[in-house]
Amino acid sequence: MQRTIVGIDVGTTKVCTIVAQVSDAGKLNILGVGLTPSKGLDKGVVVNIDDAVNAITASVEKAERLSGYRVATAFVGVSGRHISSLNSRGVVAVQRPDREITRNDVARAVESAQAVAIPTQREIIHVIPRAYVVDGNEGIRDPIGMSGFRLEVETHIVTGEVMAIQNLIRSVQKAGLEIDDLVLQPLASGEAVLTDEDKDRGVMLVDIGGGTTDIAIFVQGGVWHTSVISVGGNHFTNDITYVLHTPHNTAEYLKIRYGSAIAEEPSREGEEGDLVEIDTLTVGEKQKISRHLLNEIIQARAEQVVELIYNEIKRSGYEGLLPAGIVLTGGAAQLSRFDELVREMLGIPVRIGVPADLSGLADSLDSPTYATGVGLLRWGSRHGLSMLGPTHRSEERQGWGNVYERFKGWIREFLP
Ligand SMILES: Nc1ncnc2c1ncn2[C@@H]1O[C@H](COP(=O)(O)OP(=O)(O)OP(=O)(O)O)[C@@H](O)[C@H]1O
Ligand SMILES: [Mg+2]
Repeated sequence: MQRTIVGIDVGTTKVCTIVAQVSDAGKLNILGVGLTPSKGLDKGVVVNIDDAVNAITASVEKAERLSGYRVATAFVGVSGRHISSLNSRGVVAVQRPDREITRNDVARAVESAQAVAIPTQREIIHVIPRAYVVDGNEGIRDPIGMSGFRLEVETHIVTGEVMAIQNLIRSVQKAGLEIDDLVLQPLASGEAVLTDEDKDRGVMLVDIGGGTTDIAIFVQGGVWHTSVISVGGNHFTNDITYVLHTPHNTAEYLKIRYGSAIAEEPSREGEEGDLVEIDTLTVGEKQKISRHLLNEIIQARAEQVVELIYNEIKRSGYEGLLPAGIVLTGGAAQLSRFDELVREMLGIPVRIGVPADLSGLADSLDSPTYATGVGLLRWGSRHGLSMLGPTHRSEERQGWGNVYERFKGWIREFLP
């Protein structure tokens, strides 16, 4: 049997709605894609609901026209600097007299893991069980059916600010849709561009968008660290605008057409080949700038991004422990030679992650820009439709409803 699911990546620079059919084997057949410039977002967060609603509506309508499918619900990505994460352990005594571990024990263990103090203005977005410990034996991925006295679970908990989450939910609902689930954007992107082997070996996913750089570190198959940094591709463009006094469009064009994260010394300085003629802020006036200068501006920002990435590796405690290296994705990962710069500066393997293994309108998604959108579909096809249960419907929910009920949904979806 096939079912149709929808992912909406509400990004800082674009909104991308993807409609796909999922086969029983989990294959995605892309039926429609609706891409529109984003509005009403700043660094991954909704700052103007009406503008965001219009952008989401336009994107959904395009995807509907192309697919002939009427979109009613969708998986939606969440990001922004308000996101924070922590690892937490839960412990319970196994309940059955014969000591066989049941789903209920797992649910109770996960529930006890989330008994951490969350400030009132924050709410939980994900509680992801990573591994279990049975009577002190570590590294168990599925404890159900095993025997033991004591069950521990290691979880990764992601929280965000209530206001930011509510504004995103409200924008999607005002566009006439219900949300199947909110998914942290780097976790979605990871679904699209990482292999199970990457996650088992140890890998860092870095999604560089327009407004944010979204990070997730996976080790031994599980999520260990997630974070969102408020620097993205737009900063490169703004730097160029500022230093070269060009209009924004010109700066964006220069970055994409001539930009490089490594500024080579010009071979013969001042030669025409090294110069690019551009518009200035004065109408009708042109100026010539050297590509070397352009790329010095870009390299300075690129190095800062790499340093921020490195800080996150250090913060996670996994420095030197990521054999699969870094997978770069997001639109700004396409900056020429950025992968090379990251490899040089950090000395670990780096590759660009592009969504793969799609059928139907797959060609239109053949770019790192679509990692989050495709990843939302993979997340939806893997973890099922209603992790949040009925509490997620607009008429019933104020906030996120009963966390324990959500957990039970989660656990069901995360176990084989
Ligand atoms: N070839 C390219 N070289 C350099 N930068 C590029 C290239 N193509 C796109 N970009 C940049 O990628 C950014 C947009 O990426 P993406 O579509 O992933 O962002 P987003 O998802 O809308 O934003 P965010 O995830 O931050 O909310 C823009 O800053 C754009 O300039
Ligand atoms: Mg994005």
